[in-house]
Amino acid sequence: MCGPTRSVRLVDQPNRDGIDGWHSRDVAHGSRAVTDDGRNPPGVTKESEAMTMPILVTGGTGTLGRRLVPRLTAAGATVRVLTRHGRPDEEGVRYLTGDLTTGDGVEPALDGVRTIVHCAGSNKGDDVLARNLVQPASAQGALHLVYISVVGADRIPIVSAVDRAMFGYFGFKLASERIIAGSGLPWTTLRATQFHDLILTTVRQLAKLPVVPAPVARFQPVETDEVAARLVELAMGEPAGLVPDMGGPRVYTVAELIRAYLRAVGGRRPILPIRMPGRAARAVREGANLAPEHAVGKRTWEEFLAERVPA
Ligand SMILES: NC(=O)c1ccc[n+]([C@@H]2O[C@H](COP(=O)([O-])OP(=O)(O)OC[C@H]3O[C@@H](n4cnc5c(N)ncnc54)[C@H](OP(=O)(O)O)[C@@H]3O)[C@@H](O)[C@H]2O)c1
Repeated sequence: MCGPTRSVRLVDQPNRDGIDGWHSRDVAHGSRAVTDDGRNPPGVTKESEAMTMPILVTGGTGTLGRRLVPRLTAAGATVRVLTRHGRPDEEGVRYLTGDLTTGDGVEPALDGVRTIVHCAGSNKGDDVLARNLVQPASAQGALHLVYISVVGADRIPIVSAVDRAMFGYFGFKLASERIIAGSGLPWTTLRATQFHDLILTTVRQLAKLPVVPAPVARFQPVETDEVAARLVELAMGEPAGLVPDMGGPRVYTVAELIRAYLRAVGGRRPILPIRMPGRAARAVREGANLAPEHAVGKRTWEEFLAERVPA
């Protein structure tokens, strides 16, 4: 007796002559081997298929991206990194030159890409970068855009010039989230609190002053590498929309962050609390930038300092 048969249709074999051997039409038109009932043939799972198609990481040369890229390759992904400054390829990683401010080089970088992890960003103008990414990504039929945003993007009001000058970043992140959610692309957005690396850079600068100004605010620093690990999970999974926030294990006042740094470097300085003006600053004082209910990060600020800062 024969069971029901499932014939395999090759809709369009992957054309492996593009960058990394993948061409956009393989993705844009869903060109893959499927059975009559739309499933993958034996041995070709959605996961295995996704693994062979490159993942594009924007910002792959940045603080977060440098942790993310090796984690993606270790998970078996082929990775492309979009960067404004070309550099030699590495095992499993191709660096493609492009600029999300102008859109130059973005289309070819997206060719044949299934998943994009968008980590490129700066203090301002992230909305422009997002727009210049989603337009060609939609046109080419990318199947999953993962975005890293910031906790508080939706809770810190940017209404005055003072707000914009000090916290405009949060407004740009919210605008980018909205561009991505409205793009028609399947998406996942993770909001994280401030990375240890960023807090260290800021505290180091402040601590050079004879009297260290400490804005009256609290932060919940999170380990950059832990955020990278979470992004790998999300990139390898299905589009999930806005996922739960990711915060570090503890909330600290700015004065506590500075004191711990001074202890770690063996320095002594008076700390002067500074009250910042504006509605955004008030929201931050009230904790709009915190996610205490999602304190999922493991590594503390003190543990980070012990490793990164010479005593
Ligand atoms: N730092 C934090 O505490 C924190 C917290 C939550 C969320 N985030 C978000 O996480 C992401 C990564 O942050 P990060 O700290 O890793 O940033 P970063 O170290 O400043 O790196 C920025 C990255 O963006 C790329 N980039 C900037 N402008 C670009 C452009 N016009 N075209 C193409 N690439 C461009 C840079 O690449 P090239 O220079 O190679 O071109 C670089 O790789 C950002 O979206 C940030 O908003 C950060």
